[in-house]
Amino acid sequence: MKKHIAIFASGTGSNAKKIIDYFKHHNNISVSLIVSNKADAPVLDIARENGIPTLVIDREYFYQTTSILKKFNEYLIDFVVLAGFLWLVPAYLVKSFERRMINIHPALLPKYGGKGMYGMKVHQAVRDSGEKETGITIHLVNEQYDDGDVVFQAKCNVEPEDTPQTIAKKVQQLEHRHFPEVIEKLLQSP
Ligand code: GRF
Repeated sequence: MKKHIAIFASGTGSNAKKIIDYFKHHNNISVSLIVSNKADAPVLDIARENGIPTLVIDREYFYQTTSILKKFNEYLIDFVVLAGFLWLVPAYLVKSFERRMINIHPALLPKYGGKGMYGMKVHQAVRDSGEKETGITIHLVNEQYDDGDVVFQAKCNVEPEDTPQTIAKKVQQLEHRHFPEVIEKLLQSP
């Protein structure tokens, strides 16, 4: 039976693109829905170019209704991937996808996570603290920011000459290299 993924993304969508490309010709995993809270998010264009249905949500739809669960039924969604989605996931959705929803964070959690810790703020904080290494964390999603069980981490060095921008680049390379493979492994484990 084919497994169907929904990706939530609101940023540039570079991770979503890597995941879409990785599973494009996959035998039993497909990216079947892209969800965004921004109507002009570049990730929606990437979805359209790839013939993947899209759903734009607002706060009322997401927090005051459970309509997204009906959508997920319609598209047979088995697994949810957050790739640059900054809203807290409501309890009804966490419960419905318990252990079937993951997020990627651009640091080694539990360090440099939580509300407001996203994008360059993370890399700036890593730089300011004089860390010798940073990396990525892929974790299960619960009702708090960046808090569920860790399923995967990968590290890179922070050199004295690194800036937040060069750190961001190294971390993004790790994300692109590992995220699709980790998703595949999770979906193929019994
Ligand atoms: C990534 O750094 C990810 O770790 C974080 O949001 C960023 C999304 O980047 N959760 P992109 O939109 O996939 O380029």
